[in-house]
Amino acid sequence: MSCLAAYTWSRNSADYKNEVEYVIGVSQANVREAWRIALNQEIEEEVKKYPNINIITTDATSEPEKQKQDIDKLLEFGIDLLIISPCDTGKLTEKIKDVFQGNIPVIVMDRGIEGFDYSLFIGPDNDMIGRQAGEWVVQLLDGQGGRVLKLCGNSGSIQSQERIKGFDSVVMDYPQIETSTFNMDTELKDKAYDAVLSMKGSLKEIHVIFANCDYVAQGAYEALESMGMEKGIQIVGSDGLNGKDGGVDMVMQGKIAATITCPTGGREAIQYAYSILRQESGVPKQVILRSRTITKGNAAQYLESLEKECFDKGETITVGYSQVGQESQWRLANTHSIQEAAREFNVDLLFDDADQSQDKQIAAIRRFIEEKVDVIVVSPVVETGWDEALMEAKAAGIPVVMSDRKAETDEKDLITTYIGADFLEEGRRAMRWIRDNIPSGGKVLNILELKGNQGASPTLERRKGFVEVLQECPGYQIAYSEYGDFTYDGGKRIVEGYLERGGWDVDIIFAHNDDMALGAVEALEDYGIVPGEDVKIISVDGTSDVFRAIIAGKINCTVECNPLLGPPLMKAIRDMVAGKEMPVRIITEEKVYDQSQAEEVINQRAY
Ligand code: AHR
Repeated sequence: MSCLAAYTWSRNSADYKNEVEYVIGVSQANVREAWRIALNQEIEEEVKKYPNINIITTDATSEPEKQKQDIDKLLEFGIDLLIISPCDTGKLTEKIKDVFQGNIPVIVMDRGIEGFDYSLFIGPDNDMIGRQAGEWVVQLLDGQGGRVLKLCGNSGSIQSQERIKGFDSVVMDYPQIETSTFNMDTELKDKAYDAVLSMKGSLKEIHVIFANCDYVAQGAYEALESMGMEKGIQIVGSDGLNGKDGGVDMVMQGKIAATITCPTGGREAIQYAYSILRQESGVPKQVILRSRTITKGNAAQYLESLEKECFDKGETITVGYSQVGQESQWRLANTHSIQEAAREFNVDLLFDDADQSQDKQIAAIRRFIEEKVDVIVVSPVVETGWDEALMEAKAAGIPVVMSDRKAETDEKDLITTYIGADFLEEGRRAMRWIRDNIPSGGKVLNILELKGNQGASPTLERRKGFVEVLQECPGYQIAYSEYGDFTYDGGKRIVEGYLERGGWDVDIIFAHNDDMALGAVEALEDYGIVPGEDVKIISVDGTSDVFRAIIAGKINCTVECNPLLGPPLMKAIRDMVAGKEMPVRIITEEKVYDQSQAEEVINQRAY
């Protein structure tokens, strides 16, 4: 094969740069796996809708070195944007960073890379795919219990491990369900066939097979069929590709009971690429795609929905927004961003400030329903207690989006999407910074934790992420922890209270937000303790006030939590009203700042 044969142009290659406005390079990990072929096809289909875009596709044949060369070739061709589905994220991180820093936007697909040196990540939530499979298996067994065989295609891949982890997390709550695992090193159908055939004797005990990819499910089905056992054992697969013998087709043929879709994101990649190339506002940092559980009952409807074309008619959209309150600088910046973006995106905003009261938020949701808004957005003060109000919104046919903070519901499908930060990761980053910058020197350092408000998702998740890393660091311990409600006064009060009890033994303060950290600084100074030196302070948010405190040496580090959610939120709302499938999560970009960069970047801070 000649070298050029490995590159595919979507249109006439001779004049590709003259005919079109934008050339997008698509660097694919391989074109052997069905899922990747589907991703390429989806990209090609979507690109047909944009006469001013051309694509060039390369196949890295699963070789990281080849993928790096492919990228160089694409750059030589003069691409305007790179879409990459990396074959090895570790080995390609640096290359992707170089391209991004060379001012070519990069969309990373499917497998996340370390850091934030790319424009956008689009991928599935494999843990959730596993959980959805687990929920369906529980339903198949009808609460009776039974035996489940987990057939793992490629047990070494992170994707497989996450799917199995998610599956186990659901099934473990049902002690009457017994599971066993068979690990294969490959996702080849024939290997799955042989594996299931070799288990003939023990299969009589099995009620359901969970295959963590549809190829494996197909092999399992054919083996059962060859032994006349296909009626007695149900199969749940995952990937849900459409096309002949894809997961959805197998469900429709009755070969497998269900498949959980793992969307390729090809369509979204082109749509976002177009927005990036046109420098539109509202492009987030990460888009986590929604997986669907496909059964015989909804397979045809699902296929129809894939065909649907979506148009934004540009009409004014009415949005009811329930804001949690005005507790912090972050919140003020967040409110400002939402109100500004509403104007930019032609959204008529009914804004309600709940002053930290869940009751007021529920009353606002009900008012929005009465006023027949198109979309309701809530930044929920606490995570739980929303089911009733959200069910009323669902009954009224009004989609609900969670912005900034998350809500947990017992009922399914009450929340259309979540847009905001990754609080768990923020907590991890805070503790990683402590581990890497404040050596414990053989002692155990005491941490004072200033928590946000009780029951709020940033409080719960920042703590969880922080503790997760802390557990691996024997030189640190949380000596004291209290809720400061994300306010300046809350942070000040906790530190004063601790000081008044006598015997200051704190080495580090971890504040769940900047306002509490600044309150703590004031309290410490009043007592003659030097913040930033005698006690190190790490907070979350990245507001300008804290940047100034970092430069003054009073705070040591802030983990960014981006409040500028207005543009991505309004973009998502317009897309949703136009009929586009909503991702499960839309995540914003966030960095960590300390004394080494604060001075350099303070003037670029937007809040
Ligand atoms: O929900 C986001 C958190 O709420 C911010 O970190 C904090 O400052 C705010 O009040």
